[in-house]
Amino acid sequence: MSTTDEGPYRQLLPSNVPTEHTRLDQQTRAITAIMGNKDFLTDLPSLPSPTRAIEVGAGTGLRTAVLAHNIPSNEESKIYAVDLSPIPSLHAQPNTIEFVQGNIFDLAGHDPRFGLGTFDFLTSRMLGAAITDWKAYIRAGFDLLKSGGRIELQEACFGWYDGEGNELSKGWRWLQVMRKAGPKIGLDFWGPLTFSGSLQEAGFVDVETQTFKWLISKEDEDAIAQYTAHVLNPTFVELVGRVVQKAGLGEGELEGLGDAEGVKRDYMETVMGAPKGTYCNFWVVRARKP
Ligand SMILES: C[S@@+](CC[C@H](N)C(=O)[O-])C[C@H]1O[C@@H](n2cnc3c(N)ncnc32)[C@H](O)[C@@H]1O
Repeated sequence: MSTTDEGPYRQLLPSNVPTEHTRLDQQTRAITAIMGNKDFLTDLPSLPSPTRAIEVGAGTGLRTAVLAHNIPSNEESKIYAVDLSPIPSLHAQPNTIEFVQGNIFDLAGHDPRFGLGTFDFLTSRMLGAAITDWKAYIRAGFDLLKSGGRIELQEACFGWYDGEGNELSKGWRWLQVMRKAGPKIGLDFWGPLTFSGSLQEAGFVDVETQTFKWLISKEDEDAIAQYTAHVLNPTFVELVGRVVQKAGLGEGELEGLGDAEGVKRDYMETVMGAPKGTYCNFWVVRARKP
């Protein structure tokens, strides 16, 4: 079997280390809180039983465990938690879950466990630094699902707003740099804006989009804002620097910021210095295969 490019993820963020597992779990819990204490908007109990489901890029498997507990109870159900890295044994997992280490693009339609047209549900959260072709990812999801199967994509989208909804980030120079650098390494940090169209193009119906406010200022007390200010930003600013370096932009393309360090400084001044109430949007997009 030929292997597919796994994308840039493992060169951009730490993988398979306890500190990253802790960060991902903190992020999962904070996002769940902004979604009104929900991990999924899909009506999981209404899925067919036994249920076959996949979480792509499952991280620590925290949300996979929630998925397994919320589908109709049936010992014959099968939930695959797929990730490039090994999934740590941090969370009690019902025995309907199987961890699979691999690239979803290699597994889909090739590994006998991932037959096309055999799944009732496919979900992923926070793959923005991983997926280099959202349309191809959505098509792979379509192919894996049965007729009637559901997909639920959950992603943050670049673009920051003040408490009144006015965009603050229009003039942010590091963001202009990312617009140029992302495509050079295949990443689209504005991916969620295209989800609805790509889902329909792939053949999905009943596309529903909801957005939730992801507060980012250290002056806001919500778990998501405190997590962003103290845990995500120090990690993400390094990702920004690595994206700039990997993309190999010339000095003339760096918006006068000089080099990767200058781009990181601009990120820190704008995002880390954001006033109370500043938010970006967290998108949850669902659809059904007819
Ligand atoms: C930012 S983490 C998010 C993890 C988890 N969804 C969460 O919300 O905590 C992205 C995860 O996707 C995995 N990943 C990236 N590309 C992948 C691919 N092509 N197939 C499977 N997993 C992938 C990475 O190894 C990483 O664990």
